[in-house]
Amino acid sequence: MSDSVFPVPAEVAARAHVDNTKYLEMYQRSVDDPDGFWGEHGKRVDWIKPYTKVKNTSYDYHNVSIKWFEDGTLNVSANCIDRHLATRGDQPAIIWEGDDPSESKIITYKELHQEVNRFANVLHGQGVKKGDRVTIYLPMIPEAAYAMLACARIGAVHSIVFGGFSPDSLAQRIEGCKSDCVITADEGLRGGRKVPLKANVDMAAEKAPVKSVVVVRRTGGDITMQDGRDVWYHEEAARVSDHCEPVEMNAEDPLFILYTSGSTGQPKGVLHTTGGYLVYASMTHEYVFDYHEGDIYWCTADVGWVTGHSYIVYGPLANGATTLMFEGVPTYPGPGRFWEVCDKHNVNIFYTAPTAIRALMGAGDEHVTNTSRKSLRLLGSVGEPINPEAWNWYYDVVGEKRCPIVDTWWQTETGGILITPLPGATDLKPGSATRPFFGVQPAVVDAEGKFLEGATEGNLVIKDSWPGQMRTVYGDHDRFVQTYFATYKGLYFTGDGCRRDEDGYYWITGRVDDVINVSGHRMGTAEVESALVAHPMVSEAAVVGYPHDIKGQGIYAYVTLMEGEEPTDELKKELVKHVRAEIGPIASPDLIQFSPGLPKTRSGKIMRRILRKIAEDSFDNLGDTSTLADPTVVDDLIDNRQNRA
Ligand code: PRX
Repeated sequence: MSDSVFPVPAEVAARAHVDNTKYLEMYQRSVDDPDGFWGEHGKRVDWIKPYTKVKNTSYDYHNVSIKWFEDGTLNVSANCIDRHLATRGDQPAIIWEGDDPSESKIITYKELHQEVNRFANVLHGQGVKKGDRVTIYLPMIPEAAYAMLACARIGAVHSIVFGGFSPDSLAQRIEGCKSDCVITADEGLRGGRKVPLKANVDMAAEKAPVKSVVVVRRTGGDITMQDGRDVWYHEEAARVSDHCEPVEMNAEDPLFILYTSGSTGQPKGVLHTTGGYLVYASMTHEYVFDYHEGDIYWCTADVGWVTGHSYIVYGPLANGATTLMFEGVPTYPGPGRFWEVCDKHNVNIFYTAPTAIRALMGAGDEHVTNTSRKSLRLLGSVGEPINPEAWNWYYDVVGEKRCPIVDTWWQTETGGILITPLPGATDLKPGSATRPFFGVQPAVVDAEGKFLEGATEGNLVIKDSWPGQMRTVYGDHDRFVQTYFATYKGLYFTGDGCRRDEDGYYWITGRVDDVINVSGHRMGTAEVESALVAHPMVSEAAVVGYPHDIKGQGIYAYVTLMEGEEPTDELKKELVKHVRAEIGPIASPDLIQFSPGLPKTRSGKIMRRILRKIAEDSFDNLGDTSTLADPTVVDDLIDNRQNRA
């Protein structure tokens, strides 16, 4: 860990919304008087019927219930679009940069209004009503934002599935939230390669039938349309008007569901609601990125992840910002692409993930230094711990030592950023997410749930609710309670470990549960294991994470084959292919070790601690192995380990 400190530059503090004194004052008020604080800041969004109640939340294990602004009504799409029309109708709302550098497009707030109204009417035409779930499986094209906002306009609940997920994963998510309508594109385009989105939907729909599929034309590739179910978006859009009244929604009506992996079972549908989410997404966007009128803001995430929801679409648009949406990948056509796009569109605020930074760092400085980047003012990081080496490169080479870095810690469940520097207030330490945002009360506990004080290390919990918090697991409130509030009663458990230093700064050390963070994407080990054992030659599998230079963590799979099956390299390749087909490319095992046996206790429990150590290639100190049913399995695992230093 690095101990160097980067003080707030005077010019950054001067223009920032808050300096350190103001931060401390606002933070104190936000925890001493949450009703007063959020009652005031809730007004940053337009309410149809103003709220009279602010916070009504309980972390009591027997009665977990989270409500914010519960008697207020509003519409998210009206907040993200209509309310800006009078003052900034001609300002770009979205700058779209295509996969191919020759393709880009600007969509003003006025145009966004027309597009979203039309899209909303197309959805009405498909029979979608308030409260219905709509699955969105689109590439990074403006229609993804239109579709989200169109759902919000008519009160439908969107569930976006990342375009890299397989037909099976898509089917599971369609079924999970019982959606009758899927919005997709003929094909996606990433790094010059086509992604067969519509064909995947066709396969998914065999398992999870839907009533309607709305298809956006992106590449013009060959696809089949099923009569009576599939419609072309452009044909339907030509038939409908560009006026659709926004529906009045209660603050606690659902806005979206987003599936995310946990330590057990299948992915959970994280449910976010309307009022508190929007207040929190827009407020964090403004303060964390120190957003000012006229700034060009770019978050490189995909709308398939929560970062894309909160910080490409809802937060920035609620603030009337110009948000850049990028269809492609960081390394196409070359590793200078990010910085070329920054120059092309004069990006001021740039938000990306450590995995991208590490990959680009490896490609050589010249791809960065060839570009100007003079428009850049602030850099951000999200998704996984950023190692000080990558932080320093980002700071020195990309930001030329003039752009503060905000290392933002949060989760799908939190709706928005919880622990982060504020550029005008917080001295930076490379690798630390630093201090809590307003209203957020982090704490560190030991395995028994005892609060640890001062400089310490343990498990990260949050003591009280903030407006952007998820409200439930869709359709399974008990799972919500068990997952987040059962480990430490009365506290929200994040699943992350952390260290707190003598300055009260938080350093997230990574997941402490059976979740692997691969390139900033969450993957449950149980999901990968069940994909592996679904293969006819596999009898048993155990999956753990191991340190990976680019991805942060890689996926290491121990696989026991069925009696008589040959452990060949071909079979390894086949198993990787199999997992890609079952879940998607992001779940591909990086290393597979065929192991005749797995280390188990006498009661049959797999000892993952041992598997993790071997995968890390640090097996000198395996701890107590005396409880193993057959200690000799460990020797075989060590002898045949795949990750030798
Ligand atoms: O382990 C933490 C890590 O990503 C997890 C949340 O993943 P997801 O829900 O997919 O959301 C990612 C984007 C918000 C967390 O539990 N994580 C996220 N941001 C950071 C981080 N770890 C360290 N530092 C961060 N800045």
